[in-house]
Amino acid sequence: MTLFKSALSARQNAYAPYSNFKVGAAIKTDKGNIYSGCNVENVAYPQGTCAEAGAIAAMIAAGEQTIAEICIVAQSPQPVPPCGGCRQKLSEFSQADTPVILSDLQGNLVVETMGALLPRSFTKSHLQEE
Ligand code: THU
Repeated sequence: MTLFKSALSARQNAYAPYSNFKVGAAIKTDKGNIYSGCNVENVAYPQGTCAEAGAIAAMIAAGEQTIAEICIVAQSPQPVPPCGGCRQKLSEFSQADTPVILSDLQGNLVVETMGALLPRSFTKSHLQEE
């Protein structure tokens, strides 16, 4: 199954009764395995989680930590990029040149990179105090 199809499939299970905006995400790791997630909203709105966070959690739970590429699927007039918080979450497990594929339900793709989406990102190297 392609990355797009995995994200599309996960999107079908999204729980988004408040926004009615379903999102699916699928990560391919450096080992070639695919992990997917969808947004899961909550009546206490801030407790909802994004599709990307679900895909990251599935990858980590399976014992993997390196994102080779990620595909995000939503239905919108413009390609839907990861939100700011998810950019930071994704950057923990990816590189500046890691492709981030944005797609609508028909598979019309736009390819970005993590570096373009989150320039000058906060990384582990910044944690070292002088
Ligand atoms: N959403 C995601 O799942 N990923 C994003 O990167 C953008 C936003 C979800 C969160 C919420 O459930 C709905 O889309 C509307 O914001």
